[in-house]
Amino acid sequence: MKRLIAPLALALAALPFAALAQERMAPVTDPATLTDCTECHMAFPAGFLPARSWQAVMSDLKNHFGENATISEESRLKITAYLVANAADAGALSARASSRILTGITADMTPLRISDLPWWKREHNGEVSQAEWDRAKSPANCVACHRDAERGFFGD
Ligand code: HEC
Ligand code: HEC
Repeated sequence: MKRLIAPLALALAALPFAALAQERMAPVTDPATLTDCTECHMAFPAGFLPARSWQAVMSDLKNHFGENATISEESRLKITAYLVANAADAGALSARASSRILTGITADMTPLRISDLPWWKREHNGEVSQAEWDRAKSPANCVACHRDAERGFFGD
């Protein structure tokens, strides 16, 4: 046993810890959000936007990126509460993950898109070929490139 475990422990220790930690973002677990926010795209993890962004998105569902995504007032309030409580600045993420996502957005900015955030652009700049962008059709189409995105994995 010992002979097996030692090399394994060494191999794990050699993995960059940050890479491991960054690969998963808690997926949406809230039933209302999973019901109402997956009709047109995946349920984007709450931790990818600050609370004020979710508030802004959820307060104008009638004009939702060119679509009407209106839902009942009861669902809207439930979903807003869930997204805000799990937002990037709500204390639900590790300090490292939170600061990574919030880097470069000042208090007067309320980005509506994950794909507009500076960290997102940095991660994707130069990492994706034009053919891949064309195939995905939109930067918001996370699942086109991250096949396990719905389970919170964005590492491949
Ligand atoms: C009727 C269709 C529809 C529904 C329902 C819908 N959305 Fe969207 N959503 C869109 C479209 C269209 C876009 C823009 C996609 C693009 O740019 O490719 C979008 C984009 C987004 C984005 C920005 C993604 C990015 O980083 O570019 C967020 C955040 C978002 N939606 C949240 C939600 C939430 C939360 C719900 C549930 C309350 C929801 N959506 C329900 C159609 C919808
Ligand atoms: C056209 C393909 C494509 C689309 C669309 C795309 N990504 Fe990526 N993403 C990549 C590539 C390529 C990388 C860099 C290589 C890697 O880390 O896997 C990357 C990296 C990432 C990382 C860093 C992973 C890590 O381990 O640090 C995250 C997080 C991420 N993307 C999230 C998203 C989210 C959220 C969306 C949708 C709003 C999205 N991506 C849309 C291709 C894409």
